[in-house]
Amino acid sequence: MEQKNETWSQPPQPYWIASTESTSYPALDQDVKADVAIIGGGLVGITAAYLLKRENLRVVVVEADRIIQGATGHTTAKITAQHALIYHKLIQHLGMEKARQYAEANEYAINFLEELIREKEIDCDFSRQEAYVYTQSDQYIQQIEDEVKAASNLGLKAVYLEELPLPFAIKAAERFDGQAQFHPRKYLLALAKDIPGDGSHIFEQTRAVDFHEGRPFTVITEKGHKVVADSVILASHFPAYGGNGYYFARMYPERSYALAIIAQEKYPGGMYITAEDPGRSLRSTPYQDGELIIVGGEHHKTGQGPATDTHYRNLSQFARQTFTVTDMLYRWSTQDYTTLDEIPYVGRITAKTPNVYVATGFRKWGMTNGTAAAILLKDLIVKGESPWAPVYDPSRFEADPMIKKFITTNVNVAGQMIGGKLKSVPKDVELAPGEAKVVDHDGNKVGLYRDNKGKVHAVDITCTHMGCELTWNAAELSWDCPCHGSRFTYEGNIIEGPALKTLRSGGDRLNP
Ligand SMILES: Cc1cc2nc3c(=O)[nH]c(=O)nc-3n(C[C@H](O)[C@H](O)[C@H](O)COP(=O)(O)OP(=O)(O)OC[C@H]3O[C@@H](n4cnc5c(N)ncnc54)[C@H](O)[C@@H]3O)c2cc1C
Ligand code: FES
Repeated sequence: MEQKNETWSQPPQPYWIASTESTSYPALDQDVKADVAIIGGGLVGITAAYLLKRENLRVVVVEADRIIQGATGHTTAKITAQHALIYHKLIQHLGMEKARQYAEANEYAINFLEELIREKEIDCDFSRQEAYVYTQSDQYIQQIEDEVKAASNLGLKAVYLEELPLPFAIKAAERFDGQAQFHPRKYLLALAKDIPGDGSHIFEQTRAVDFHEGRPFTVITEKGHKVVADSVILASHFPAYGGNGYYFARMYPERSYALAIIAQEKYPGGMYITAEDPGRSLRSTPYQDGELIIVGGEHHKTGQGPATDTHYRNLSQFARQTFTVTDMLYRWSTQDYTTLDEIPYVGRITAKTPNVYVATGFRKWGMTNGTAAAILLKDLIVKGESPWAPVYDPSRFEADPMIKKFITTNVNVAGQMIGGKLKSVPKDVELAPGEAKVVDHDGNKVGLYRDNKGKVHAVDITCTHMGCELTWNAAELSWDCPCHGSRFTYEGNIIEGPALKTLRSGGDRLNP
């Protein structure tokens, strides 16, 4: 569905989802066995399942909603080892060897994607592109110089520049040659087709809600069915099962926004990102007989910051300052997690659980990192080792016993808060269609939203993960958690994040 102007009469929808068929894999309706259970059907889950099936293993992908509609369906899909400014920092903090592993894994992923797309003849708008990180601030010039040196020392083809092929002046930029871009859903839908059969399955609309460690590992779904497997990969973006790895305390979620526009001028090619705030990102993609320009940026921590729709307005202003915009067709947003040292957690979920694997914390660079993660996990499962395992090792920080105390305290607080909150909800709240409010009721907070048909939806805005209070996201019409990024519809259903239970809802109590 196309958005013809900036009044945004339609809800946000990514171009990637709007331009591809939706999927209809069955839901799991009985117990099933597999060699590897994979929780989540995004880039990581689908790639890992495809690679493991190629190794003659039986894989079962369990997807809560529909595959490739999470972060991967809402990405900007630049395929690059240039992750803004990272290599100078990595060398400083982790040393040359680990920085080299990170660079190699991401460079390998670009070539791997190109070869697989060629081998399988996947029509997914893949093209090689140059990637640029640029600054318009004097303060970042030195950092860009350092980054070019660091990247070059690691064997990456980095070039220092003072001009871009874009219509504005800059102070400095770093260019990586031989990077790429694609249409992520066209690519992954083609891989997904090869997964079912010979004992392997994709199950959609099947949320994993309970997990029992051991050999084999057992995953229990919302409807109570079991997936019993020798190994399990948690590819659910935020790991649906933490196994005492305390992932919620070791990552934070950040949202960003994107617009797909049509401009009068021809896009000069290349993929761009700013070194400084406000974050701005550009790339193009083929569209009908011409092209769409994807304008991204405006990051903030989930559930925090100003009214979320201002981010779309800021991006549209930047788009109009940069190009002669003739149409704004799509807009969307999503979130990704960043780890303590900015390197994803990929590998055994904890040192004590050899058959439970995780891949998370991609810091908005999941196309290459996620592909490398799927290859790494396939190698750990099939061969027991991977040359990239040390840099991505999820156990590189030992869990602090204080963190455990923090969880226990929070769970208790949540238990206290939830009791009785929705027993009665005030009927005299003024709420216009499309408006949301948090009301204080008997000392408790209830979230109200009136939809465009006039119906009011009331939910308990205590996050079901660990009891933080949710905030309203006006751009996406959702209740978002400022603590670890769980998001819920205004009816209380889970959209994403660590929460495994829906919000308590007030049903029709407020409606005539
Ligand atoms: C705005 C933005 C732009 C980005 N642009 C780029 C870019 O240009 N280049 C780049 O490299 N990276 C980019 N990224 C990052 C990249 O999109 C992500 O890192 C990547 O898509 C994550 O893939 P994933 O498979 O881990 O997660 P997802 O694609 O979110 O897949 C996880 C799946 O697990 C499912 N799931 C969750 N819980 C359960 C459960 N309990 N049971 C069953 N299923 C469950 C979800 O429904 C979802 O389908 C961007 C990120 C953002 C936020
Ligand atoms: S996501 Fe952890 S408390 Fe909400």
